[in-house]
Amino acid sequence: MNLKDKIRVISDFPKEGIRFKDITTLLKDGQALRETIEQLALLAEEMQPDIVVGPEARGFVIGTPLAYHMGKGFVPIRKKGKLPCETLKGEYKLEYGTDALEIHKDALEPGQKVVIADDLLATGGTIETCINLVEQAGAQVVGVIFLIELTYLSGREVLHDYAVKSLIKF
Ligand code: PRP
Repeated sequence: MNLKDKIRVISDFPKEGIRFKDITTLLKDGQALRETIEQLALLAEEMQPDIVVGPEARGFVIGTPLAYHMGKGFVPIRKKGKLPCETLKGEYKLEYGTDALEIHKDALEPGQKVVIADDLLATGGTIETCINLVEQAGAQVVGVIFLIELTYLSGREVLHDYAVKSLIKF
């Protein structure tokens, strides 16, 4: 199946000039969703993680089934003010806007091998902050996995010290 064809591109959302990659059309297709997770798992397994981490919200949609498929646990990175226990915090820049992300201080073990998963690599700002939070927690990022990579935004350059893999490129 051509998974790229399952992604709907919406012009001028959420603002003029952005061509938004809408993954809801892929997610609602059972066969496409299964193939997506299976193919991402093949990429992630090469990195031999102990656990998967993903950022809110679409990183949950990709990261949790990926972790489940690999028989690993999942740790959420959330937007500020959402996690109930003590957190580590990091500011980040988006393709459009800024925000802050948090992870529970006790979510990862020192030295634990982490794969970070998300739906999209745009500028790399979100994942850079996620890497920072994982490292602040004392764990080791063994790789970063994306469903979609926007190659024209060069987010990969920001992540040059890390193994980066993506399934679909625009
Ligand atoms: C989107 C997307 C990635 C990030 C990519 O998330 O899901 O996490 O932006 O952009 P970047 O590489 O430029 O940082 P968003 O913050 O819009 O949150 P959402 O998943 O909750 O919609």
